[in-house]
Amino acid sequence: MNPLQAGRTPSVHPVVEATNLKRVYEIRRGFMRAPDHLQAVGGVSFTVHAGKTLAVVGESGCGKSTLARMVSLIESPTSGELKITGVDAVMGPEEGRLKLRKAVQLVFQNPYGSLNPRKKIGAILEAPLEINTALPPAARAEKARAMLALVGLRPEHYDRYPHMFSGGQRQRIAIARALMLNPALVVADEPVSALDVSIQAQVLNLLADLQQSLGLAYLFISHDLGVVRHIAHDVLVMYLGHAVEQGEKTALFTRPLHPYTQALLASTPGLAGSSAVKQRIVLKGELPSPLNPPTGCVFSTRCPHATDRCRAERPALREVAGRLVACHYAEDFLTA
Ligand SMILES: Nc1ncnc2c1ncn2[C@@H]1O[C@H](COP(=O)(O)OP(=O)(O)OP(=O)(O)O)[C@@H](O)[C@H]1O
Ligand SMILES: [Mg+2]
Repeated sequence: MNPLQAGRTPSVHPVVEATNLKRVYEIRRGFMRAPDHLQAVGGVSFTVHAGKTLAVVGESGCGKSTLARMVSLIESPTSGELKITGVDAVMGPEEGRLKLRKAVQLVFQNPYGSLNPRKKIGAILEAPLEINTALPPAARAEKARAMLALVGLRPEHYDRYPHMFSGGQRQRIAIARALMLNPALVVADEPVSALDVSIQAQVLNLLADLQQSLGLAYLFISHDLGVVRHIAHDVLVMYLGHAVEQGEKTALFTRPLHPYTQALLASTPGLAGSSAVKQRIVLKGELPSPLNPPTGCVFSTRCPHATDRCRAERPALREVAGRLVACHYAEDFLTA
């Protein structure tokens, strides 16, 4: 067995099972006024299996990071169920939930901000082991050096400081740190958005290789469908806190059935010209405020196909052609 996988037993459960996850924020606008309620995530369900990547895509403010914070146990959902490796992450006994903190690790967008500038890379990588395990110093160092090699860094990097690395190398260090406790799940929130395009591809390849060799599950957050196309197995498209389309990547990219997915694909360089997106949909109008979402379909104010029914009646997320779509007219796009 790969020594970096030691301590993790294969689970019969999906790594993540999220059911109707909701997160509402109370916004206080003054001492005398009743608080407003902002629904950042409005009931999202999904499953992620070992060795697979679920990518969450959507425009700024659609609730991607809020979802990432709930799944990485930084924030509790307002309602809904969340199981990680079969353990109830919301209501389960505290002991089980504490163990989950090791099973789920995070990689952030900004590799500059997330590494302590005063610590050498070796110490940064060993800190999670120091806090969470009883491994003696020599074993910690050995594991840190093995991890450096695994993420494509060199042995001498162990004694260097974060400022001595490029952006891509720093993101490799952040990934290495995330893997030190043998997690089952890595939640990556825009992990390559701050990197040059050429470096993005290298880091995405690294993530894919690590997934293969370690059997990791990824929840991969991105606003960029071009990036998602390289890394995802399944895709969840969000709009104003709601899932509007979700399913297997190739099916969704080849024949997007929600007008919002169609618009996102049409606006992504490299994907726009594909036969998948026959009609070019240009998103009109502003994203509505999540404090005052449209009645009916959340996308109705910007959808070129919207009818009176769309403005009045919220479409349920339902199965169409092997994936889930929240559009009254999804079938029409099967033949369009
Ligand atoms: N702690 C908070 N308090 C109040 N509102 C919040 C809080 N965190 C997020 N929000 C709101 O919830 C909504 C979703 O935010 P979130 O950060 O999840 O979006 P996002 O999809 O990650 O956006 P981006 O692509 O810009 O990172 C936004 O309207 C945001 O203003
Ligand atoms: Mg975000």
